Amino acid sequence: MLTNQSRFPPNFIDARLAKEDAKAALLTKQETSGYQRWFVPRRLIQCALTCSGFKHIGANNAANIHKKIHRLPIKDLPESFEGFRILQISDPHFNQSNAISDALFKTIQDIDCDLCVLTGDYRFRSFGPLENALAGLTKIRQMLSCDTVAILGNHDSIQMVPVMESLGITVLLNESFVVSRDNKELTFVGVDDPSYYKLDNLGFALSQRPIKSSSASVLLAHSPHLYQQGAKAGFDAYLCGHTHGGQICLPSAIPIKTSKSFPRYVNSGQWSHNGMRGYTSVGAGVSVVEARFFCPPEVTIHILTKYNAQGSRSKRL
Ligand SMILES: [Fe+2]
Repeated sequence: MLTNQSRFPPNFIDARLAKEDAKAALLTKQETSGYQRWFVPRRLIQCALTCSGFKHIGANNAANIHKKIHRLPIKDLPESFEGFRILQISDPHFNQSNAISDALFKTIQDIDCDLCVLTGDYRFRSFGPLENALAGLTKIRQMLSCDTVAILGNHDSIQMVPVMESLGITVLLNESFVVSRDNKELTFVGVDDPSYYKLDNLGFALSQRPIKSSSASVLLAHSPHLYQQGAKAGFDAYLCGHTHGGQICLPSAIPIKTSKSFPRYVNSGQWSHNGMRGYTSVGAGVSVVEARFFCPPEVTIHILTKYNAQGSRSKRL
């Protein structure tokens, strides 16, 4: 278990473990009760896909992972970081499906990047064994030669962190990671999951290591929940996932269901909020059912480029 408690806010580990235990107890109870055992969304959607004949199409779509290139404009980006390549892998949800996991490994095998960021949800279920998630992360780590930084999602346990760190992955739990080039810095601040566990603590992270005014800065959070907080703190960019872009969408990638916790324009793809650029990955894996429609899975290669700020509207780009 994590021994250096001083790197975290007070009581952080105990609070995280207590919330994980409570969640596992609740979900176990739901799964073993008569009614909910049969009428969970997963069973209903699976049944609908099988009966309609769309099950295999949805599964094939889910295993067809796209390599998406995204130019990420950063205000006053230091010259030495022009063209810096960040590979973002979000929501792999190992191992709901071997086909999807294998497709992910195949997709990233020839990607050249300067840094990999893993934005959470490595486990398929949000409680129970960790082995599949850790095996998937081990494989990713073995395939990449660049530094790898990770945050935790709402499906992940803090008990995964010591193993992830032993693999050489830098796990940010309300902490920072700085890349230096030619005496200039690019700072990544990663917070714990703000969607379910809500133990994200941006203030603590920034108090431990304030961002230099000359540094470009990127906030990593599992979900878009912190889009206002990130912009207010002055981050240049915000990378996240969690939404799966809706996963099962109508034509033109219109999600059937979206979160009420943030506006629709931050649900997927590139967006901006009060001058901060954001990108919400639709993710590489699936949750609930092994199917995607009108929302292809992705790994994202963000290529940093300098831009001059023009206005500060909030919008989907
Ligand atoms: Fe998530």
